[in-house]
Amino acid sequence: MGNFLAGRVVAVTGAGRGIGRAVALAAAGEGARVVVNDYGVSVDGASPASDVASGVVKEIEAAGGEAVAVADDISTMAGGQRVVDTALASYGRLDGVVCVAGILRERMLFNMTEEEWDPVVATHLKGTFTVFRAASAVMRKQRAGTLIGFTSGNHQGSVSQANYSAAKGGIISLVRSAALGLHKYGVTANAVAPVARTRMSANVPFELTEIGEPEDVAAMVVYLLSARAQEITGQVYTVAGPKIAVWAQPRELRAAYASGGWTPETIAEFLPGSVGVDPMPLLSGPGAQ
Ligand SMILES: NC(=O)c1ccc[n+]([C@@H]2O[C@H](COP(=O)([O-])OP(=O)(O)OC[C@H]3O[C@@H](n4cnc5c(N)ncnc54)[C@H](O)[C@@H]3O)[C@@H](O)[C@H]2O)c1
Repeated sequence: MGNFLAGRVVAVTGAGRGIGRAVALAAAGEGARVVVNDYGVSVDGASPASDVASGVVKEIEAAGGEAVAVADDISTMAGGQRVVDTALASYGRLDGVVCVAGILRERMLFNMTEEEWDPVVATHLKGTFTVFRAASAVMRKQRAGTLIGFTSGNHQGSVSQANYSAAKGGIISLVRSAALGLHKYGVTANAVAPVARTRMSANVPFELTEIGEPEDVAAMVVYLLSARAQEITGQVYTVAGPKIAVWAQPRELRAAYASGGWTPETIAEFLPGSVGVDPMPLLSGPGAQ
């Protein structure tokens, strides 16, 4: 193991299993002291168990590292605050937070219930906000820090996961807002879109052609948490096994102006041959669903 994160304190949500666990172990292996948060729930968010977080703390300690467990639900303000407060109380500082916690409740949009929508958006999107909110207040004062959110390629849209896709798109906008709002304080914010073999990806009802291990994703997160990445902010990176990729910033593609203002009729005449459309890759490209 190296010393990419020597002296740093890092908090990781959803760190009891899958990618979050790999991030916590890798960060500790690179010298960070780690707050291991996990509510210990099933893939759909049910049946919390506090020994999931403490199990990873034991693994880190057995490897000679330092870690502390927080078994709170990060979709609550108190849970997000506890993650940050535990870092400060245990180690006296907080250099990075990584919001990995997530759940799935798949359903076609026309059948989706409020009980399938709310907890998914709360775990992913609010669960990133609660931790970013508490951590950014600390990082703003210390004029340094790194915020990392977890998104998905599914932020482009998903046939049977409108709740998950909407939350993942929201996380990208939250990350960009954090990058903008905290830039002058020396705090960075980035998002990672992973594809890795975990219990969550085992549920995907189609074949993932580009996939790797949680450890591949952890390497990118360790890099983003390190001093070597301190100029990088507002970015979305894919990690899928051997592949890393950066996503484009959203931009207007083509514009048109009407001197006297538009009417539905002039738009109908003008738009198809000029401004047009930008076809959805998931609808019309290779692998279209
Ligand atoms: N695995 C993939 O290929 C893939 C693809 C795209 C995005 N992602 C994202 O990566 C992240 C990690 O996914 P994973 O595959 O490792 O999943 P996982 O199910 O293996 O692990 C998720 C962990 O989050 C914890 N968790 C859930 N709700 C929580 C809450 N309210 N508070 C605290 N902890 C909570 C769970 O207990 C679990 O240990 C998720 O945000 C997921 O959406 C994963």
